[in-house]
Amino acid sequence: MTPIPSDLSSHRFVRACLRQPVDRTPVWFLRQAGRYMPEYMEVRRHHSLLEICKRPDIAAEVTITAAEKLDVDAAIIFADLLLPLECMGLDFEFQAGEGPVIHKPLRNAADINALITTRAAELSYVGEAIQRVVAHFKGRLGMIGFCGAPFTLASYMIEGGGSRNYVETKKLMYRQPDAWRKLLDKLVIVLREFAAQQVAAGADVIQIFDSWAGALAIQDYRDFVLPATKILVREVQALGVPLIYFGVDTASLLPTMREAGADVLGLDWRTPLDKAWRELDYSCAVQGNLDPITLFAEPELIRARVHQILDQAAGKPGHIFNLGHGIVPGTPVENVQAVVKFVREYKSPTHPEARHG
Ligand code: CP3
Repeated sequence: MTPIPSDLSSHRFVRACLRQPVDRTPVWFLRQAGRYMPEYMEVRRHHSLLEICKRPDIAAEVTITAAEKLDVDAAIIFADLLLPLECMGLDFEFQAGEGPVIHKPLRNAADINALITTRAAELSYVGEAIQRVVAHFKGRLGMIGFCGAPFTLASYMIEGGGSRNYVETKKLMYRQPDAWRKLLDKLVIVLREFAAQQVAAGADVIQIFDSWAGALAIQDYRDFVLPATKILVREVQALGVPLIYFGVDTASLLPTMREAGADVLGLDWRTPLDKAWRELDYSCAVQGNLDPITLFAEPELIRARVHQILDQAAGKPGHIFNLGHGIVPGTPVENVQAVVKFVREYKSPTHPEARHG
């Protein structure tokens, strides 16, 4: 568990991460700054994704614009999961419509031995962007920093991009377990340093994205992924901030992911929130879990789904409203704004005001 600095404990979002009581459920969205938003697309007309990430003034502007337009309780710094690859010696680019492409993916122990772990300082542009956002909001919103989890980043490094079956990743994991462990250890060194920079810059909370952990069998997660993840979680918490651990397609994996020790677990939409939380014995806070594609429905249906999730959370301390995964391009912005309104207007059936009034 994270030691709590007292000056942070008053923010609704941070309080919920720590399972402290709040006046209402905090809400923010995965990929709240992205291609569904015209303001972002306007910036993208003039700058590449990597340019935006590396220019603290623009990254801060994109972060602030999205958080203000949606009126959410937390801002997530505009950056990308793959940025640390560059300072470890792996070049990549984002190709239109294809997602990320790593030019020379890792295939063997020699490639892994060659990875650099001493240049995390090159990522300082992310911290600079965080400083700007923090200076803008002056504590009115929670500030989320983030990084990838060892498994998800390793999978990009090995596959060279997105993957369907993770054949190369799992092959290396099964057949060269020492090299695999070395890779994860190296990632932990860089990611810890990267998270520390973000916390020093003013991040209130760090989210670790293990977006593709759902591809793993429980036993493989336990044997090959949990040990390094646990170390990263512990080291980030030792920086004095709560930690959110997020994955997709993780229904059966959640109790094992819980063992990594995060303060908050992200839930996707495939399991009802109450069931998932119960199966975790309410031993941590939870974040989620509206299907992002619900945002294409009519407002009445969206309202019903949002309120159903809040009903399932039943006013227990430690729920942060979010989607089960990121907002996709084409999502109507007004529907995202409507979700914020639906969360704010919600009165728990067990809430005294609702019962009597
Ligand atoms: O508002 C925010 O959420 C902050 C910004 C953010 C981006 N990437 C910017 C981005 C965050 C939190 C990420 C994390 C990230 N990056 C993840 C984990 C989140 C998840 O969805 O599970 C992953 C897997 C990546 C790697 C990545 N970056 C991929 C696979 C892609 C291409 C996929 C796609 O949607 O096209 C990206 C590109 C990317 N990163 C975009 C944005 C806004 C869209 C492309 C663009 O603007 O050109």
